Amino acid sequence: MKKREYKNIMVTGGSGFIGSNFIHYFFEKTNSKANIINLDKLTYAGNPNNLTEIQNKYGNKRYFFYKQDICDFGGVNKIFQEHEIDCIIHFAAESHVDRSIFGPKEFIESNIMGTFNLLEVARQNWKDRQDVLFQHTSTDEVYGSLGDTGFFFEDTSYDPRSPYSASKAASDHLVSAYYHTYGLPVTISNCTNNYGAYQFPEKLIPLMIMNMMEKKDLPVYGDGKNIRDWLFVEDHCSGIWAIVTAGRYGETYNIGGENEWENIKLIHEMCKIMDERFPENAPHNKLIVYVKDRPGHDRRYAINCDKIKNELGWTQSVDFAAGLRKTVDWYLDNQEWIDNIRSGEYLKWIEKNYERR
Ligand code: NAD
Ligand code: DAU
Repeated sequence: MKKREYKNIMVTGGSGFIGSNFIHYFFEKTNSKANIINLDKLTYAGNPNNLTEIQNKYGNKRYFFYKQDICDFGGVNKIFQEHEIDCIIHFAAESHVDRSIFGPKEFIESNIMGTFNLLEVARQNWKDRQDVLFQHTSTDEVYGSLGDTGFFFEDTSYDPRSPYSASKAASDHLVSAYYHTYGLPVTISNCTNNYGAYQFPEKLIPLMIMNMMEKKDLPVYGDGKNIRDWLFVEDHCSGIWAIVTAGRYGETYNIGGENEWENIKLIHEMCKIMDERFPENAPHNKLIVYVKDRPGHDRRYAINCDKIKNELGWTQSVDFAAGLRKTVDWYLDNQEWIDNIRSGEYLKWIEKNYERR
């Protein structure tokens, strides 16, 4: 199949975890000659340090950064027109379930209104063009929670349980509606839990690594038996690139690791890696503390990703044991990145909200 090519790709949320990994992947692993235009509001989760090498190498040549809220139609529209955008890869969102429980408003604004704004910018500028694409990056959490068996499929009914997943579900429906109503060329991806470099340390894996580095408690929600399916972030990026270049318009593609772990077992695995790295502090699992459960905590996620495998030839490439070690080592080797985050708003938020546990 002939792959689609683009000239100017707008990446939203490119300074966050997956967005910045995607931009690295794009420049380092694909042959595309396109320019990347990164729009990011730089919330607490957006970090320009994630892209220092890209900025140094491609800045204002093939990589352009704009500190821009996607909720501001005029601002986005101006950049869109100036750069003659022919593809949008939409990552920007409030992404942390716990934060959505403490304060849902920003999730409604950025995830729903922000996506609506982008869709409007695309629709008003592209009109009937079919050589363009709006790729929307979403989550398996829109499908709800599974029991001990079964998988989410692309046609599983939506059943979001948290303000975060409800806001992502709403945005998915809007994207789909723009395809059916206006014929806007869109694709949607629904992915499981990502891990890897540059992930903000409020999420399970980097939080546990950082807490172990600092000999702090490892908070396990509830009984620790909730199950997540983990995918190395670069494999998510290659899946998105496969969809962007060859996915069928109007289609949803599930992406996952086929790698289910109970939280507590995963935490023990990380403890073992840290025991190898710092035997003087072993066993790290003595730091594990069971805390109050997350309200509405989804029990199990597991996804069937046969569609993207069969149609687009995508597959996972990173084995979990290797990926987890690589991730732990990345955090151990990037103390400056951590210090930078620790000095900012992250600590203030943790102090304000997490002491409620
Ligand atoms: P993240 O929180 O690390 O990054 C989000 C980025 O979006 C940040 O750089 C932030 O500054 C930016 N942003 C937020 N609101 C914005 C706004 N109004 N305007 C412009 N920029 C804004 O999130 P992530 O983990 O990288 O997730 C990226 C996307 O992938 C999200 O849409 C998320 O729902 C989806 N997703 C994440 C995972 C995961 O495991 N992390 C899995 C599946 C899907
Ligand atoms: O499934 C995809 C989703 O994965 C994405 O859409 C979200 O953006 C992303 O944040 C992630 O959501 P989770 O809620 O699954 O991720 P989190 O890292 O917050 O939690 C993973 C599991 O670990 C979950 O069952 C809650 C638990 N947990 C989390 C933290 C932060 C703990 O037990 N202790 C903790 O301190």
